Amino acid sequence: MDIVEILNRRYSTKEFDPNKKISQEDFNQIKSLLRLSPSSTNIQPWHFIIADSDAGKERITKGTQGFYQFNSEKILNASHVIVFCSRTSADDDYMQHLLDKEDKDGRYPNEEVKQMVYGARNIFADMHRYDFKDLQHWMEKQVYLNIGNLLLGVATLGIDALPMEGVDLKALDEEFELRQKGFTAVAVVALGYQGENDFNAKTPKSRLSEEEIITVLD
Ligand SMILES: Cc1cc2nc3c(=O)[nH]c(=O)nc-3n(C[C@H](O)[C@H](O)[C@H](O)COP(=O)(O)O)c2cc1C
Repeated sequence: MDIVEILNRRYSTKEFDPNKKISQEDFNQIKSLLRLSPSSTNIQPWHFIIADSDAGKERITKGTQGFYQFNSEKILNASHVIVFCSRTSADDDYMQHLLDKEDKDGRYPNEEVKQMVYGARNIFADMHRYDFKDLQHWMEKQVYLNIGNLLLGVATLGIDALPMEGVDLKALDEEFELRQKGFTAVAVVALGYQGENDFNAKTPKSRLSEEEIITVLD
């Protein structure tokens, strides 16, 4: 696998072929990409709403009415569309839930290590909650990391994608009753295969030069 070739080949797909669907096998890998993404202190503050039916995608376009209309067709013609959601709290119950899961997955050789990790995760969460006052923002950063993980991952599978911030997140919160469930929408990613006439498939990639963005120390 030539990772640079894959990075150059992937691009933001502006027109999807409505007749091409992602296979069940690839969809299973996509779910693994979402689940196995890393997050700070393994906090995993996310949930994913996924639509592959016309009805489901229609519901997601509740977030692309009015000003955001330019993204509607991309959602409707994609094979699968994912609404990335962030938690709105990280309370004691959730922290305990994470710890129990890690314990069940065999992460802890003994009780001491388990309690150490529990304490460390709470210290980090409290730092963001009280000192930096950005707990919500911190959790959303973890969700964005997951989006990056997904974009590269699907590219290796030959699947095209479009990340979208051009969506009405409040409308999506309402449509999926996310706030009542302790979540809020952060962004949407459409997945599928490029349409024949996607102008963006031929747009040359443009990035700042290595010299400008990377400093390699002696
Ligand atoms: C977080 C994020 C949000 C984006 N939102 C939109 C969007 O709402 N609609 C759209 O057409 N493109 C959107 N894009 C696509 C960017 O414009 C595109 O990634 C960028 O120009 C780089 O081009 P490339 O992805 O083709 O390499 C978004 C990209 C990212 C990473």
